[in-house]
Amino acid sequence: MAYQKPKGTADILPGAVEKWQFIESVARETFKRYEFHEVRTPIFEHYDVISRSVGDTTDIVSKEMYDFYDKGDRHITLRPEGTAPVVRTFVENKLFGPEFQKPFKTYYMGPMFRYERPQAGRLRQFHQLGVEVFGSENPATDVETMLMALDFYKQLGIKHLNLVINSLGSKEDRETYRQALVDYLTPFKENLSADSQKRLVENPLRVLDSKDPKDKEIVVNAPSILDYLSEESSAFFKQVTTMLDALNVEYTIDHRMVRGLDYYNHTIFEIMSEAPGFEGAITTICAGGRYDGLVEELGGPATPGFGFALGVERTLITLDAEGIEIPCETEVDAYVVGLGEATNIETLKLVQSIRDAGFVAERDFLNRKAKGQFKTANKLNAKVVLTLGETELAEGKIQMKHMASGKQVEVNLADVHENFKKQYDLVVKSVEG
Ligand code: HAM
Repeated sequence: MAYQKPKGTADILPGAVEKWQFIESVARETFKRYEFHEVRTPIFEHYDVISRSVGDTTDIVSKEMYDFYDKGDRHITLRPEGTAPVVRTFVENKLFGPEFQKPFKTYYMGPMFRYERPQAGRLRQFHQLGVEVFGSENPATDVETMLMALDFYKQLGIKHLNLVINSLGSKEDRETYRQALVDYLTPFKENLSADSQKRLVENPLRVLDSKDPKDKEIVVNAPSILDYLSEESSAFFKQVTTMLDALNVEYTIDHRMVRGLDYYNHTIFEIMSEAPGFEGAITTICAGGRYDGLVEELGGPATPGFGFALGVERTLITLDAEGIEIPCETEVDAYVVGLGEATNIETLKLVQSIRDAGFVAERDFLNRKAKGQFKTANKLNAKVVLTLGETELAEGKIQMKHMASGKQVEVNLADVHENFKKQYDLVVKSVEG
């Protein structure tokens, strides 16, 4: 029986993996310009780290965790997101200490796991590029971090984006709003979806996020959280929008936007793709916000936080939707054609010498005839082909052909081993200039 990959996962194969590498390298290069440094945390965490951060009543924790008890009876979960693990490592490694730069700016990339219903852009193992900033209460941090996400997309050539923002205020603001929302929703209770009736009790703000058409109708006239912000919270949000305006960044305020994770307060944001060719319903490609209080919740000193994560799979869909091609062909510099058993060892030595000189080299391993080997060389787009027959081997020579021009020269085997670059430059430069 031939096995298939688990549902909601993907194999990333050569031909596609180059796009991933490109996205990752653009992310590294972008985050570096903003002075973010990488952290790598384990793929699995203690269940409590996630449940205490993300929240017990969220879909992520209550329905989607890949959790299990290990052989030592520890409650473990594959990480569903990166913020809680990074906060855990921030506290555990005392990254708030005086020897660390403040704010502490860090990024991560890697697989996350959620037991969701798979569809286009929604997987059970998906990949995030995420960033977190610790120790800044300055709204400029919110703005800089959102700008960095936009900058990343700009570097990829993605244009049709909508930055959507909202404020959830402080914990106290949210309590007041929560009550107002419950008061508003309760008369409609019978008409709400079963899920939302449950949310009304456990986590009323989540009703605002319901995809159910009837819920959506009811929610249209719900009170706005922005009317329940304290003066201080309002002023903070105003500073964020003022800064976005000052930097000529376009954005939309959506007072009904809430997030699927409980740790947020004040600024939250999502970036949606508005590419005309975007297929499928999920257009949120990046999301994040402020989470003052989470470091304390996980046992650290009071430290404000802000961050986001973007999905690599959704970035790839966006690139496609925008018709952006990523160069993913590998260039082979030299292909060595070896003819006859006797050339097998020398051919191996030759490709190694060429690689030692810093070039990409390939050879035949299947005893193909000259024609077949040249065909492969062409397929690989080899710049030069070196042909070694038994006669050449005996004479210590090899034929080197520049494929684009057909120009061929004979060179000494010893020269290829000693200084391939010189031979290569002679042939290539003489034709290409
Ligand atoms: P999130 O909204 O749960 O936030 O996920 C962020 C992004 O990850 C989404 O916008 C999407 O691009 C991608 N994503 C999430 N779930 C899936 C899935 N099942 N399949 C494919 N892509 C997915 C967080 O995870 C927060 N930790 C973000 C954050 C960082 N907030 C502050 N710092």
